Formats: sequence, C-alpha cells, structure tokens
Amino acid sequence: MDICVIGAGYVGLVTSACLAYLGNQVIAVESNPERLNSLSQGIVPFFEPGLQEFVKVGIDSGFLTFSDKLEESVKKAQIIFIAVGTPSLPNGEPDLSQVMVVARAIGSAMDGTKRRIVVNKSTVPVGSGNWVEMLVSQGVANSQPVPARSTRMESPSFVVVSNPEFLREGSAITDSFYPDRIVVGSTDENAVAVMKNLYKPIIDQTFDPPSFAPRPKGFQEVPFVITDLASAELIKYSANAFLAMKISFSNEIAGLCEKVGADVKQVAQGIGLDYRIGKAFLNAGVGWGGSCFGKDVSALMQVAKEYSYPTPLLEATVAVNERQRLTVIKKLQEELKILKGRTVGLMGLSFKPNTDDLRDAPALTIAYQLLKMGASVKAMDPVSNERCQALNPNLDIVYCQDINELATDCDALVLVTEWDDFKHLHWKEVAKCMRWPLLIDGRNALSEEEVTQAGMTYRGVGR
Ligand SMILES: NC(=O)c1ccc[n+]([C@@H]2O[C@H](COP(=O)([O-])OP(=O)(O)OC[C@H]3O[C@@H](n4cnc5c(N)ncnc54)[C@H](O)[C@@H]3O)[C@@H](O)[C@H]2O)c1
Repeated sequence: MDICVIGAGYVGLVTSACLAYLGNQVIAVESNPERLNSLSQGIVPFFEPGLQEFVKVGIDSGFLTFSDKLEESVKKAQIIFIAVGTPSLPNGEPDLSQVMVVARAIGSAMDGTKRRIVVNKSTVPVGSGNWVEMLVSQGVANSQPVPARSTRMESPSFVVVSNPEFLREGSAITDSFYPDRIVVGSTDENAVAVMKNLYKPIIDQTFDPPSFAPRPKGFQEVPFVITDLASAELIKYSANAFLAMKISFSNEIAGLCEKVGADVKQVAQGIGLDYRIGKAFLNAGVGWGGSCFGKDVSALMQVAKEYSYPTPLLEATVAVNERQRLTVIKKLQEELKILKGRTVGLMGLSFKPNTDDLRDAPALTIAYQLLKMGASVKAMDPVSNERCQALNPNLDIVYCQDINELATDCDALVLVTEWDDFKHLHWKEVAKCMRWPLLIDGRNALSEEEVTQAGMTYRGVGR
C-alpha cells in the first residue's frame, strides 16, 4: 500500500520503517530541515536501539523515503498517518497546533482520485477525531476552485480513524512488531478493513522477523481491537494514566515502607505475583517522566474538567510523582545535613534507560533543585550528555564521560536512570574517587551488598 507518515519523530519514524519493512511504499514527511537532512542521509537523529539499522534496511529496500513535501506525498498515498507531537501547554492542555496545521494541509492536498484514510497516531484528546475531520474538510474546501455552474466537481473522499500508538522508547521496534494489541477506532467498516489488512502481517505474525528484533518465544496472534473513535482516543490516555498510577502507587507505599521498616521491593514482589495486579510498573524510585505520562495524565484531567468531572485518582498520581522526585534531596539532607557547597553526581539524565529522551526527566528536576539549594552538580549519561547540554544551556552541570570522573570529589552519587552500564561497577574504585562515599539508589536497581562491601553508604527508596 502507498503510505504517507507525517512527522518523523520517535513514533513516525518507527512506524514508517516498520510499514516499509512489511512491503509498503512509505514516504515519511518531516518539516524540521535538520532532522530531514539527517534522515535523508540515513542517519537517525536520536537514540533508539536498532533504529539506525532498521531505517537503513528501509532505505536500501527502496520502500522508505523521506520528504518535506507534504502535499505531493499525501497525493500519492492511500493511508496518511499523522504522527506529529502533541506536547503539553503550561496549563496542562495538549498543544494541538501541529495536528491542526497538518490536518488542514492534508485536506488541501486531497484530490478526488481515491478514497483516503487519515489515521491519527498522535495522542490526542477525546473528540479530536471529529475535529481532525473538520480540519481536513476545511483544507479541502479552501483548496477547491469555485466551480462553474454547469461543472460538477469530484469531491475528495476521506475518513478519519484513530490508531493510538503504544510503543515505548527504548524498545520501540520490538513493541511495533510484537504489540500487546492494535487498536483502531472507526465506525467505517471499509476503513477498518483496510487498516486490518495493513496490519495483517503483524496480527498473524507472518512476517520474517528482522535480525535486530527477533520474535519473542511463543509470541502469537495480536488482538485487533475495533472501537469507535472516542473510545480509541480514551484507551490511549487511560492506558498511560493507569501505568503512571501504578508507579505512583508503589512510590506511595515505598514512603510507608520507610516509616514502618518494610522493603518495597519485597512488597512489590508479593503483590505483583497476584495476576490481577501484575509485576510490571511496580518499581519504586524517583518517579515517572518522559514525553507521554505527564502530558497524557494532564490532558485526561483537562478533558474531565471540561465536563466538571472530578478525577481525584489522576490528581493524586501526579502529586505523588512530584513529591517522589524530591525524595532523593531529602535523603541527601538526612545523610549530608547541609547541601550548600556539596557536590552531587547524577548517574543518568534521560528519563529512562535506552533512550536519549530528556522530556520531563526526573534528573532535570533533581539537578535544578540541587543547584537552587547551593550544591554543585555533575552528571554522566551514556548517551544524553550532549543533548542535555544543548537543550539546557543554562543548567550549570559539569558533564562527565565516565563514572570515575563523575565520582571525583563528589559528596554523593545519585542513580537517577538505571542504565545497565551502572549496574555492576567497580565500586571500590568509585568510592576512592569520592570525597564522601554515599550512594542514593533512586531506582532500587543496584546491589546494596556490592555497594556496601566497597565501604559506601547505600540508601535505596522505600527500603
Ligand atoms: N514518544 C513516545 O514514546 C510515544 C509513544 C506513544 C505515543 N506517542 C505520541 O505520538 C505523537 C508523536 O510523538 P513523538 O515522540 O514521535 O514526537 P516527536 O516530537 O519526537 O516527533 C514529532 C515530529 O513531527 C515533526 N513535525 C511537526 N510538524 C510537522 C509538519 N507540519 N510536517 C511534518 N513534520 C512535522 C516534528 O519535526 C518532529 O520530528 C505524540 O502525540 C505522542 O504523544 C509518543
């Protein structure tokens, strides 16, 4: 099938490469000239495991191309994916301006040659499907010449469907090939059938897995969930809100564990074995971050507000997370008493391992707070030092290349991102570099035994 994907960020680029791998002719449209230039040379401008190789496979096969010509690309396609960003505005509402521009432009590019499906993959609030339909129609109307009385124009035909994306940064390719489910929201039977056909190789798992994303053992058919538009949109927000709530729940229990002398890791194991609860997303630590959870929970609360519907669970989910990010500061104060004049080394900057994404990263909140309190901050991340420096030129951090450089003259180290690189270090060497051998394990990811055997003081979260 001829596909056009608009927006070549994490979601758009992975979607494009995945659909190209399945034998579709895909044009990924990107408006950022630097990003487009880089992609046109086969260079992925952000870090995502395997994506560089994956994109190269697409380009070499001839199935994946890049362009900044939205109109031309839309005209060629039968299915048009919208995969642009929907970041939060300061008031918590999602900024839908990128979607608005793109939807109108799609409309302007439409002609009557075929019936097109406009697929909303960007995460948007309930009701956006109808709104996108209106914008596409406006684009169509604006681009139509006023017909002479006697001529009858062939009106472009399209349908808008919702196809929320559930991939996780850090495992985006695997998530795309082996998803838990594919959700398509539309009441148009024909559009649903086309979408089902597009995803058939994934639903039936009939494609040959690429070497960098092998099929998990025993992985079978993928559920294809058909809903109405509003339900598909709400599924995406609810899924993220639920996952964020699970982490916040664990963090709330972690605080209680510290009071009563329990260990939140043991508690999480004990409750996670109950299949109704499940083990995933019960890790206590410095809390959730990233480009999706915060903005999606806020957007969900905003939708509820429009209907004067209170959402105390969502509010608590956010409040617990905000408090949790600062628990490491409290622990540093308990151990070091005064933070003014101290040097703290942050292990990790990205919001989670295996990505260089710094959007809403807890490390930034912690760094700003430490600096505000008069401490010096050093940091070392395996992939996002440079990006952090470029995006936060006013953040007064000393960036380090290795763990010993980071530890040198530090009064404490704080594990913020649980990269594998940090899990088994030569702790004795690390301790030797430090002024005061204190380690705050903000992710409960390190071996307390290994750290304390090296003569360091270890503090986890909720233990
Ligand atoms: N990142 C994730 O893990 C993830 C997961 C699931 C869903 N989502 C959702 O998917 C959407 C995209 O997220 P992302 O992380 O890929 O965003 P992103 O910001 O990384 O990428 C968006 C891309 O769209 C491009 N763009 C913007 N306007 C354009 C235009 N007019 N024409 C062409 N390109 C344009 C931008 O330059 C950018 O490269 C968001 O709504 C997000 O909430 C993201």
